[in-house]
Amino acid sequence: MSTLVVYDSNFGNTQVIAEAIAAELGEDTRAVPVAGLGLDSLTGVELLVVGGPVNGWRPSPRMQTFLAQFSHGTLRGVRAAAFDTRLRLFIHGDAAGKMAHALERAGAHIVARPVGFVVEGTHGPLAAGELEKAVAWAGSIVSAIHR
Ligand SMILES: Cc1cc2nc3c(=O)[nH]c(=O)nc-3n(C[C@H](O)[C@H](O)[C@H](O)COP(=O)(O)O)c2cc1C
Repeated sequence: MSTLVVYDSNFGNTQVIAEAIAAELGEDTRAVPVAGLGLDSLTGVELLVVGGPVNGWRPSPRMQTFLAQFSHGTLRGVRAAAFDTRLRLFIHGDAAGKMAHALERAGAHIVARPVGFVVEGTHGPLAAGELEKAVAWAGSIVSAIHR
């Protein structure tokens, strides 16, 4: 299955998560930064995972630019999932849910619940156990697509 992980990352934390998820999804899976990415990069992709930091309670500006290219049906027949990285705040915002909605609106079938992985501060590091949580979440995607 042709799989792509598209991520945004200001300080490297989401990149680390994205690369761990890509490794778990299979050796052919690439993790690519979202900056400047066009819809042509999705040609032939059957499983799309997107992830980025919560920035101001929503997906980061670069991720919003990427998602804004989608129209109804862009992702028809594509399976997809979304994650974010976020602070341990009472009101942290939910970028993963918003990204998953955007993928779904474009016609994708969401195969894993949107999830947030915690960083200890704006620059990181990832909180203890979050990398392992990300690998387990990727494993749930593998299980879902082989069901
Ligand atoms: C401009 C800006 C806005 C942010 N807004 C939020 C926010 O609303 N909620 C939150 O939990 N974290 C927020 N953060 C913290 C980011 O979630 C954190 O920097 C990010 O997860 C780190 O991942 P990265 O290294 O991949 O960028 C913000 C960070 C920046 C720089």
